[in-house]
Order: sequence, then structure tokens, then C-alpha cells
Amino acid sequence: MTSTAVPTAAGSGSAATDKFKGSRFTSDTSTERAAAIYKDVLTKLSEVIFEHEVTYDEYRVLKQWLIEVGEGGEWPLWLDVFLEHFIEDSNSRIFNGTKGSIEGPYYVPNAPELGAKGVMPMREDEKGTQFVFKGQVRDLDGTGIEGASVELWHADADGYYSQFDDGMGIPEWNLRGTFTTDAEGNFHITTVQPAPYQIPHDGPTGEFIASYGGHPWRPAHLHLKVTAPGKRLITTQLYFQGGKWVEDDVAGAVKPELILDPKPNADGIDEVTYDFVLDPVSEKRFVA
Ligand code: DHB
Ligand code: FE
Repeated sequence: MTSTAVPTAAGSGSAATDKFKGSRFTSDTSTERAAAIYKDVLTKLSEVIFEHEVTYDEYRVLKQWLIEVGEGGEWPLWLDVFLEHFIEDSNSRIFNGTKGSIEGPYYVPNAPELGAKGVMPMREDEKGTQFVFKGQVRDLDGTGIEGASVELWHADADGYYSQFDDGMGIPEWNLRGTFTTDAEGNFHITTVQPAPYQIPHDGPTGEFIASYGGHPWRPAHLHLKVTAPGKRLITTQLYFQGGKWVEDDVAGAVKPELILDPKPNADGIDEVTYDFVLDPVSEKRFVA
């Protein structure tokens, strides 16, 4: 990389906000359910206010900060770090397949199709340790699923994502790919190990973290979406054994099942096998 510029929260945040706004989301939440959720949220917030005797100064700082997060385009950053893991955990409890984790703000659909075996799009001089990520996609009975889709996206060895690099010049689809499993359900991907990732912290999200004496780091991670016709889509992340921040992720998204331990293969290249088990699509949506 020639540039030494660093993506700003405003740059990567507004790219994430613009991408998100490109889709219009709806949910079929009933009035009764909405009433129950909003009432509970306010009741629990009021309990916090009384318990900590929140002051008017604190209230005004909060109001100012909320406005700044919105103006800075940082809601996707803040929400996906501090709230998404609760939503993900709550949703995944009722399923039997492979554990998921948060999507984060940097997914982009329609990454290049690379077949069952391939190399992730990368620059000629892409930094980082080469690494083979392979495995099988199966149904709950253990049968390999042909034609399952495995989408992989991750940061580079400097911790930056293509399309959210605030004009640093990372190629559009760098380290983003879509793989399709072979007749046995297998996939085989060559990529480079990502670096730990620092959430952009030069804006209001950074002020928030500083206000409670926290740090902005996430451990190095791979992002994946795995699915097949008639199967529930799994969105997940995988981490690296012994990696920095695995025990202390700002986004609280690490689970023990999601930690990889690559070992050198016969060619001396780090390699790891990770299999995915997909639930059938079902109507089970909310924890009863
Ligand atoms: C954020 C970035 C990530 O790469 C991720 O996985 C989760 C959250 C963020 O900047 O908000
Ligand atoms: Fe990420």
C-alpha cells in the first residue's frame, strides 16, 4: 500500500450508513409486540436513571452525543459493536446448526464468484500470512450440501476493509469472495490472515469508548455468510487461537466455538478446516 492515510470514523461510518440506507428494511412486528418492547425498554432505562441518579448534565451530554453519532454517520459502527451481539445471541439460541456471530457494518453482497476452490481477490503485493481455510457444509443429518454458498469477507493485514477504506485505494472487491461447494459440500479458500481491527474511534464512538476507559479493538476475524436452498443462512465470524483481543473484544462477539487454530500443511502453509451445519428454514423466529 502506498498511502499512509488512515480511514476516519466519518469516512468509513458514512460509507457504512450509505450502504445500509441503500436497502429499505421492514419487519412484521405487531402493535402489541411493539408496545411490549418499547414499554420494557423505557422501564429498564428508567431503572438505570433512578439507580444511578443520572444528572441533567449527563442527560444533555447524552442528547448531544446521540445527535453527533447520527450526524457523523456512526450509527452502523456503534450499533454493530455494542448492541448487535445481543440480537445475534438471542436469535441463535433456538437453532441447532453452527453458531453464528454478528454481521458488522462492512458486508457487501455479490462479491466475485470463485467456485468451490479458489484464492480470494487480493493485490499482487497483499501483505499478511497466507492461509488456507477449508471445510464442508452439511445438513443436520451430516450429509454434505452441494451448491451451498460460502461468502467470505475480511480486513487486510493492516485491519482495513475494501469499500470502507475512506479513499485509501484498496481495490473494490479486495478480500471479498463468494464460493460454492462441490458435490460433497466442500470448499477450499486461500487468503491472507487479517489483522486485529480497531473500530474507527476518532469520532463520537471513540468519545463513548474513552468515556468509560475502554479500548476500540476487535480480534482478527473472518466474516462469513453460509447458506443453501431451503437452509437457514448463518452469519458468523471466526477468530484465531491466541490472537490479540480474542479475550477482550470491544464488540463482545467471540464465542469459544468460533476460534480457529491453523497449523502448517504439507506445503508449510497455515491451514484450518472448519465445517458448517445448516438448519432447515423454519418458522421459529422468536424465543417463546
Ligand atoms: C465493526 C467492524 C467490524 O469489522 C465488525 O466485525 C464489527 C463492528 C464496527 O466498526 O462497528
Ligand atoms: Fe469485521
